[in-house]
Amino acid sequence: MAVGTVLVTGGTGYIGSFTALALLENDYDVVIVDNLYNSSKVAVDRIELICGKRPAFYEVDVTDEAALDKVFAAHPEIDSVIHFAALKAVGESGEIPLEYYRVNVGGSISLLRSMSRANVTNIVFSSSATVYGDATRFPDMIPIPEHCPIGPTNTYGRTKTMIETVITDQVEAQRNNNKKAGKSFDQWNGALLRYFNPCGAHPSGIMGEDPQGVPFNLLPLLGKVATGEREKLLVFGDDYASKDGTAIRDYIHVLDLAKGHLAALNYLREHKPGVRAWNLGSGRGSTVFEMIKAFSKVVGRDLPYEVVDRRQGDVLDLTANPALANKELGWKTELTLEDACADLWRWVENNPKGYRQDPPAKFLEALKAKTS
Ligand code: NAD
Ligand code: WQD
Repeated sequence: MAVGTVLVTGGTGYIGSFTALALLENDYDVVIVDNLYNSSKVAVDRIELICGKRPAFYEVDVTDEAALDKVFAAHPEIDSVIHFAALKAVGESGEIPLEYYRVNVGGSISLLRSMSRANVTNIVFSSSATVYGDATRFPDMIPIPEHCPIGPTNTYGRTKTMIETVITDQVEAQRNNNKKAGKSFDQWNGALLRYFNPCGAHPSGIMGEDPQGVPFNLLPLLGKVATGEREKLLVFGDDYASKDGTAIRDYIHVLDLAKGHLAALNYLREHKPGVRAWNLGSGRGSTVFEMIKAFSKVVGRDLPYEVVDRRQGDVLDLTANPALANKELGWKTELTLEDACADLWRWVENNPKGYRQDPPAKFLEALKAKTS
């Protein structure tokens, strides 16, 4: 018997697919909706290959409320939602802001409206450390705690901040309205999970990030330098106030991040806290040069790079203070960025076409040997 059934929006995407896997591995049933804008249905097959269970999948756009209503009607057992579906390219968000507000904010409103009709009352939301903007503008806010004032510096970050507000208002309103009507109210809950820099792949070597377009994050780009698809990495600035002049980020393995969603969902179901925000990060800050070194080490040779100007909108330091999630959720990162580099390289080196090729036979055999 499943402990619950979760609708995962954006569940064929990078973080969504790893979270769907973690849910299935922990006895939840999973229903995925995704419009495949930035992902492939093959992710569903890989989830099944790893855990032996297959999530239900619907090709649905989250801005299509009627289609969401149909999914909830087909699965009355759904009791919670983990909401990943979004556009996420920071640069692009400044060029086509209305599309980002339509999909990210509009899609979240459609989802909440549909949830409310279906009486599905727990939502875990993919927020981002980007909502904090430049935390170094305040004294003593690095590592960043949840009470650090919000101040996103780009359109993408503003959509995340807005969705946090929309979810908070909706959960509070549903609670108040039910209270006034003398009905139970504490079934309405929301988790705002502010991820730092997710990275890595599945250690089996058959599941990883496979975006439809060109990657813009540091580690996937380093992967492309290692395979020779790119000549060198461009380092965006070495004149920051860090120990080696490059910017500091908190890199978190996607397997740890997926477990953080499970912990947050379980907390909502058990403690019924209303809306809570949690940072999901390791608490360890690493510079760009340190990341190049760590990835070069797993590849086995020095990867070429060139220092260029700072990238517009980048900030010096985004390192999490994850103490609240450690304490309340009983969750902390277990894997290191060295693990993430090794897992990412195994994925990239052996799957040059990502999900557009069969998984390597040696990895499938190893998986079979493990599960039999
Ligand atoms: P991703 O692009 O791999 O996953 C997003 C998924 O949403 C994709 O599968 C895409 O096809 C789907 N999607 C997009 N628009 C949709 C729509 N209108 N209807 C239905 N599905 C739609 O990205 P990811 O890295 O897995 O990110 C997942 C979530 O986490 C996003 O909300 C993102 O903003 C957030 N986040 C990501 C990072 C990161 O660095 N990867 C950091 C912080 C927060
Ligand atoms: C990491 C570091 C770059 C590429 C972004 C979003 C954030 C969140 C995570 C979604 C920075 C440097 C990078 C390159 C470089 N996503 N870099 N050369 O910018 O910390 O965060 O992804 O919510 O919202 O903004 O991640 O991987 O792009 O950059 O020098 O070619 O690597 O300057 O210091 P970022 P990133």
